[in-house]
Amino acid sequence: MTEIVKLAEEAERAMTAASSLEALEEARLSVLGKKGWLSAALKELGALNAEERKARAQQLNEVKDRLAAVLESRKTALNDAAIEARLKAERLDMTLPLNESAEAQGRIHPVSQVIDEITEIFAAMGFSIAEGPDIEDDFHNFTALNMPPEHPARQMQDTFYLPKRGADGEQIVLRTHTSPVQIRTMRGGPPPHRIVVPGRTYRSDYDMTHTPMFHQVEGLVIDRTTHMGHLKGVLTEFCKAFFETENVKMRFRPSYFPFTEPSAEVDINCSREGGVLRVGEGDDWLEILGSGMVHPRVLQHCGLDPNEWQGFAFGMGIDRIAMLKYGIPDLRAFFDADLRWLKHYGFVPLDIPTLGQGVAR
Ligand code: PHE
Repeated sequence: MTEIVKLAEEAERAMTAASSLEALEEARLSVLGKKGWLSAALKELGALNAEERKARAQQLNEVKDRLAAVLESRKTALNDAAIEARLKAERLDMTLPLNESAEAQGRIHPVSQVIDEITEIFAAMGFSIAEGPDIEDDFHNFTALNMPPEHPARQMQDTFYLPKRGADGEQIVLRTHTSPVQIRTMRGGPPPHRIVVPGRTYRSDYDMTHTPMFHQVEGLVIDRTTHMGHLKGVLTEFCKAFFETENVKMRFRPSYFPFTEPSAEVDINCSREGGVLRVGEGDDWLEILGSGMVHPRVLQHCGLDPNEWQGFAFGMGIDRIAMLKYGIPDLRAFFDADLRWLKHYGFVPLDIPTLGQGVAR
């Protein structure tokens, strides 16, 4: 009797003092394990006579229940403490400054950087940003832009045609330029319009300066009195701001696009001395964009009366001017996803949100 009481007290002390789940398990085994004293005592019950057995069994069961309760409460306490400790160890202090080691930080791709720069400059002139789908139908990419079927200009665009047709039987293409967004904008709401459209464009072409996917930014202004002088002024302001020089000379060279009349290609002056290209210096010329006054037939396709509305449009290769501004020689590397290249030519992000970064793209 007293021996069991003593053992039970000892076991209770050991359990209460157990500082880990392992220690607690050890204490449990010494009581209730195969070789534990309580298991042994229970086994011995069989050898007793009925009366003794009843009293003994009652005592042993009380001890057993008591120790089971102690065991359970200690287990809960230890588990809680373990969770608490883990939470403490894993806690994130959201107020700590970021670890901004250059290694841990990503880079902004030159194309994203240049899109930000371009859109910011035009935003400052009152333009907003529009977008359209990469997968276009024939109507928006060609017909509405005054390139009816069989128009020779279609052949110049090295178009990727998709095998499926649209619901209305329209031929589906990967857009060859951002100009279809002119159509979507003019058909989407009433003028005036003043938008820039950065985005991906596709043509079947591949060499040092051409990739099958490339980027353009489209510009469109439609109002009642917008004229060629506005086109010239806007693009001149843009070039000065983008190339960060007052000296850049521009040449508006007569050209042809089916969707503008008159049309002009714009060159900027550069020097190629010593094999290094410098924008805004020297007497050489470099073509950077196509532009013109929106063709009356394009306006009509969009339900606008050319006697009431007029304006200009332009389209510029983004990758091309990124290469120019930042001296990147091979366009193909832009899209190789080589992190070494990105580390070299990419831009460290600023924490200060700029207008361009705030724009949804
Ligand atoms: N969409 C033309 C191209 O890709 C560029 C352009 C846009 C020309 C708008 C005139 C007006 O070559």
